[in-house]
Amino acid sequence: KENFKGVWRYKSIIHPGIDKRLIVTRGEGNTFVYGHENISSYSGIKNIKLKHEGENPTGSFKDRGMTVAVSEAMRLGYKKTLCASTGNTSASAASYSAMAGIENFVLIPDGKIAVNKLAQAYVYGSKIIKVPGNFDDAMGKLMNIISKNNNFYVLNSINPWRVEGQKTIAFEILEENEPDFIALPAGNLGNTTAIGKAIKEFHDLGLIKKIPRIVSVQAEGASPFYNLVNNHEDSLNPVNPETIASAIRIGNPVNWKKALKYIKFTNGIVEKVTDDEILNAKRIIDRSGIGCETASAASLAGVKKLSDAGIIDRNDEVFCILTGNVLKDIHIENINFMDINILS
Ligand code: F0G
Repeated sequence: KENFKGVWRYKSIIHPGIDKRLIVTRGEGNTFVYGHENISSYSGIKNIKLKHEGENPTGSFKDRGMTVAVSEAMRLGYKKTLCASTGNTSASAASYSAMAGIENFVLIPDGKIAVNKLAQAYVYGSKIIKVPGNFDDAMGKLMNIISKNNNFYVLNSINPWRVEGQKTIAFEILEENEPDFIALPAGNLGNTTAIGKAIKEFHDLGLIKKIPRIVSVQAEGASPFYNLVNNHEDSLNPVNPETIASAIRIGNPVNWKKALKYIKFTNGIVEKVTDDEILNAKRIIDRSGIGCETASAASLAGVKKLSDAGIIDRNDEVFCILTGNVLKDIHIENINFMDINILS
């Protein structure tokens, strides 16, 4: 473990104190960056790149935070971990907890998570508890449980170590580029917080001069953070969330205060996009051979909207974070199977 490649390459600025022997890692991070002419012509931006976090070990960006949080659970000697999830956090928590030999419990909104994500938590051996309602209800249950029982180590992004690990997405971008904008899909706002904290830390260390603007993109049916920022509200008003992008179907994001601080620090933008806009962007990404989870395409959809509105310029350098793998959340209706005669 001396020469880490991904997340732990940044050990000194994410968790300097932890003993290397306690680290639970699957080699997460160091993800690929794609450019494609289809993405440029769709968005109207020449220099647009997609950083694919879906190519992490369990298929989402969550692994970057999970390696740090589960390592910390080891350091603290916890025997049980707990999370509420729309699916990706639970898949990642399940894998890293199993690897560490820790018992993992996951709270999922009944019927509202993608079956492939559920399958991941199941095969890794987690105890899965269905909560009636949506993610916010599951999160509420978790808060209630931990207020009475301190045997569980929480693996949601309210755990600051999750944010520490996820900072490395931005570190990898900023080490090699000077982007004008970094766009990402936003649900519980842990990742917006992580990207913002990373930008601030690199700036404070004098490693970057230009502060890239965060573009945090919500699904229109689940956009309380959009309302907060764009309507200049004093505090977040929860909504009853509805969107095809199940990963970000969240109406009461727990990290909104921290995220707001970093939107302000980076002069960031909070945008919202319809399900149709998300699906159109996903189709462009998929048909370019890259592929991503539905929610992930919100980043490109948001950037296209801002480019069409003239807020992002065609000569700006833009990074979109693709948060999840194409196999995560699939909606296939009618496959148009061909007749074998097409080959003759
Ligand atoms: N994209 C994907 C694929 C996600 O799974 C999530 C969050 C987000 C974006 C939004 O990130 O919450 O930090 O703003 N998924 C969580 C989960 C809620 O339980 O897997 P965020």
